[in-house]
Amino acid sequence: MSGIIVAESVRKNFKTGKSEVEVLRGIDLEIQKGEFVSIMGQSGSGKSTLLYLLGALDRPSSGKIYIDGIDISGMSDRQVSRFHRRDVGFIFQFYNLVPNLNVEDNIMLPVLLDHGRPGDYTERLAGLLESVGLEEKRRFTPRELSGGQQQRVAIARALIMDPEIIFADEPVGNLDSKSGTDVMGLLKEVSQKYEKTVVQVTHSAEYAGYGTKVINIKDGVIQPGAFGES
Ligand SMILES: Nc1ncnc2c1ncn2[C@@H]1O[C@H](COP(=O)(O)OP(=O)(O)O)[C@@H](O)[C@H]1O
Ligand SMILES: [Mg+2]
Repeated sequence: MSGIIVAESVRKNFKTGKSEVEVLRGIDLEIQKGEFVSIMGQSGSGKSTLLYLLGALDRPSSGKIYIDGIDISGMSDRQVSRFHRRDVGFIFQFYNLVPNLNVEDNIMLPVLLDHGRPGDYTERLAGLLESVGLEEKRRFTPRELSGGQQQRVAIARALIMDPEIIFADEPVGNLDSKSGTDVMGLLKEVSQKYEKTVVQVTHSAEYAGYGTKVINIKDGVIQPGAFGES
């Protein structure tokens, strides 16, 4: 068990009214440091649910998840919130930017939430703005940006604290195909530049192909033979 992310027999059920649905039905996976893994499957197959469990945004009904060898189910709420602030970055389909903050302040938000000193991040912020191509737009607010530009802000925000892992839920799912391709290319490029492990979920074979590895999921089960290098 050497992976940076390991899932063992992970199950997740949701109760809705009197019935219970089994959304994840025994997931085992191992992701190595530096990999760019695409979890691919149709809508409703359980991709987001799995990503949220791997990122400790939710807890499994049973089974174990280890990040860097640490069983995340054993973490206190305080430890989980520290883990979210420092060790992982999230990128969501709809960007989740704060509308009344400009580009720079959106990127710096994780630093403020962690009570860091903005002055310590001046160089890193400048480097990230350059990496995502938004130096000229640093004072713009989200409404003045295209969807692709907004997602570039979210990518920089995910990297500002220098976390080990980036989790991305359909990161280009809301973009047209030209900006989708651009943003996916950028995500791959910056993740290599900053040496991050990336786990993205997508329903698109084309976007899954940006990964170094594709894991196929269907009806809450990983499909055999899904661990081939792409
Ligand atoms: N909080 C929840 N309560 C009840 N059902 C849920 C919840 N979250 C997800 N589901 C169900 O789990 C299944 C998988 O959802 P999800 O992980 O979002 O799939 P995907 O991201 O692959 O489209 C869907 O049928 C969805 O309705
Ligand atoms: Mg989803």
